[in-house]
Amino acid sequence: MEHIATPSWAMFAYLVSGVLFILALRGLSSPATSRAGNRYGMVGMTIAVVTTLITHEIAGLAEIVAALAIGGGIGWFTARKIAMTDMPQLVAAFHSLVGMAAVLVGWAAYLNPQAFGIEGVLAVAGTERTFDLPNAVGASVQVTHYIFGQSCIEMGLGIAIGAITFSGSVIAFLKLAGKMSGAPIMLPGRHVINLGTIIAILGLVGYFTQNQSLWVIGLITALAFIIGFLLIIPIGGADMPVVVSMLNSYSGWAAAAMGFTLHNTAMIITGALVGSSGAILSYIMCKAMNRSFLSVIAGGFGAAPEATSGAAKEQRPWKRGSAEDAAFLLKEAESVIIIPGYGMAVAQAQHVLREMGDLLKKEGVSVKYAIHPVAGRMPGHMNVLLAEANVPYDDVFELEDINGEFAQADVAFIIGANDVVNPAAKTDKSSPIYGMPVFDVDKAKTVMFIKRSMGGVGYSGVDNDVFYMDQTMMLLADAKKMVEDINKALAH
Ligand code: TAP
Repeated sequence: MEHIATPSWAMFAYLVSGVLFILALRGLSSPATSRAGNRYGMVGMTIAVVTTLITHEIAGLAEIVAALAIGGGIGWFTARKIAMTDMPQLVAAFHSLVGMAAVLVGWAAYLNPQAFGIEGVLAVAGTERTFDLPNAVGASVQVTHYIFGQSCIEMGLGIAIGAITFSGSVIAFLKLAGKMSGAPIMLPGRHVINLGTIIAILGLVGYFTQNQSLWVIGLITALAFIIGFLLIIPIGGADMPVVVSMLNSYSGWAAAAMGFTLHNTAMIITGALVGSSGAILSYIMCKAMNRSFLSVIAGGFGAAPEATSGAAKEQRPWKRGSAEDAAFLLKEAESVIIIPGYGMAVAQAQHVLREMGDLLKKEGVSVKYAIHPVAGRMPGHMNVLLAEANVPYDDVFELEDINGEFAQADVAFIIGANDVVNPAAKTDKSSPIYGMPVFDVDKAKTVMFIKRSMGGVGYSGVDNDVFYMDQTMMLLADAKKMVEDINKALAH
């Protein structure tokens, strides 16, 4: 591929694709507009790829088209087949590919700079390889000591961030997919080791501007692969979605760095958008879980489960209800607030739940759905499932908009949620979820709690006082089965 000075029409095309990417992010912020958002993104990416192909003399176009077809085919097949609950690990796996792509592009630019239109001379282990300055007038220009121009920092950083993204995402994938224990693995002295390694990488990137030897870039790459692994192993499963979003942000910055190296505006814009949106999302998730970003990065959350919770749990009285009991109370209610959580996703109960909502509305009951920002296992998890089941958007409310209504609600209907309704987050300073904003379900007249067993706990692994409240009716069964039975009883 030979670099040609980017024509103005191509700059305009890159700008258009940048605007389309911004529209895509905007569209993805609401289920109602997310399909349109996806389409904007697809059109933007097509414009960027086609413009790049037209403005560069490409050797091996057939190979590129074949690679696009194979990669696109695998992506299409995987996305169609994946279960919604496996989405976080799929995203982690995809990020690992973005990281590896940045490493490979960086290395390709290092080993064969003239193919990328990067100017300079390459010195490898004492021997200097010279190459032509692109667009040089006349014959090739022998340059003796100008190496990669200003690209060194971006190239070194891009490779380092890409390698961190790769190994970090692989660990995140293994933890989320249950192929590796989700528990934090705490190495002694890990903060010192991690900080030391990061400082060493930054020092080497600086040194790379002076010395472009193979060992420098090789060491940067190796250390970055290792630090990606070390940074993620101490982080527990509960924090993993924040980590995935953080790695998403890293992959964006790696792409932006590579955009500078390759003088590609579209890559810089896209990388910056992905980098900043990933960082904002990580911040929002941390805030919703009342965790500081630094404490997530430092890891260790979930390492020491509450020793006392198991013993206390067994002795406390609780009430069990049947589907018929639940249907009777629901029919009598004036207002019902439904709180879905991870268990609804596992059971795929969203469709029968919407049917239940419709049946209740026919009886004149007000039905609202309350969504916690970290319900489920990924941002927007519940919104997507409810949208898939055609629950009207107007019936779906965010935590801060509906929390004040529980005091007037007749029924708080909890389906597969747990941590997001746990009052320990408000009262128990020793609880790992202390400080996380939660739904005030304890204020509702009746609480119905669907889960499979009294033993099962939420993600944070702590007991929940709501199970034992006077007004709580435990509905122990698979969420889909229980709601189907409630629907049958309602229909009678
Ligand atoms: P959880 O607290 O994880 O509780 C899930 C509940 O679903 C459990 O009580 C479980 O009990 C029940 N369950 C599982 N399978 C079921 C089935 N087939 N039928 C019925 N019930 C079933 O869920 P949540 O309230 O949604 O909270 C989410 C947690 O994930 C929070 O701690 C949050 O901080 C964490 N987290 C989320 C995110 C994002 S972005 N969403 C990010 C990081 C962390 P049984 O086993 O007894 O059935």
